[in-house]
Amino acid sequence: MSAPPPPAPDLASPGVSPEGVRTMFGRIAPRYDLGNRVLSLGRDRAWRRRAARESGLGPGGAALDVCAGTADLAFELERRGARVLALDFCPEMLRLGAAKAAARRSAVRFVAGDALALPFGPRTFDAATIAFGLRNLADPRAGLAEMGRVLRPGGRLVVLEFARPGGGPFAALFRAYARRVLPTVGGWITGRREAYEYLPRTLLRFGSPAELAAAVEAEGFAQVRCRTLTGGIVACVGGVRRP
Ligand SMILES: C[S@@+](CC[C@H](N)C(=O)[O-])C[C@H]1O[C@@H](n2cnc3c(N)ncnc32)[C@H](O)[C@@H]1O
Repeated sequence: MSAPPPPAPDLASPGVSPEGVRTMFGRIAPRYDLGNRVLSLGRDRAWRRRAARESGLGPGGAALDVCAGTADLAFELERRGARVLALDFCPEMLRLGAAKAAARRSAVRFVAGDALALPFGPRTFDAATIAFGLRNLADPRAGLAEMGRVLRPGGRLVVLEFARPGGGPFAALFRAYARRVLPTVGGWITGRREAYEYLPRTLLRFGSPAELAAAVEAEGFAQVRCRTLTGGIVACVGGVRRP
């Protein structure tokens, strides 16, 4: 008889209350996009494009982007022809996302809501995505379960997230970049150094790519696959909602 698989590891919660997380994102919202572009050295758009491809969405598909922020992933999903709802609990982020949508004549719609209590019935969406949001949830596993609840059977979940770096010289370099460069440069750009101290603190203790994939599997998703991007610092995990 073969041994049962080990239980999926718990994913670390951010160690800040949801209200604290919301306030922090509200403060950095006006310079959030610029911070992303600069601090990712321009890679963040390619990461979101990868996640959009992984969603498997095509024309007319119904998508929910959770923790949507200023909606950059939502716009990538829309480029695939999907009808997209962008959900976030931070009004400042939603306002900026909606202004960007108006400027580009996008049909993405915006909803205020909590990722841990999604305001939708079961089996509503063809795809549910979350980019750089899971790490911020008080209970990341519960967030995955909520996304599973609102997906129709066969619908796709996509999680894009910084992954705890493994070993090797590139990982060591990234750790040093995260601890030293992110707070300083993020602080210059947004005037909120504390938000860019929170970022390395949470990402360096969050799941490894394998742990993230195991957590998705443990929440009942099938055909789970994990791709790592940019030397392994970002993981893109996809899974299919079981019938
Ligand atoms: C790092 S930003 C990511 C934004 C966007 N997805 C992106 O790729 O740039 C995290 C977002 O998650 C939102 N968020 C965190 N916890 C949340 C929750 N419980 N419910 C809804 N949104 C949440 C924050 O307000 C913030 O906009």
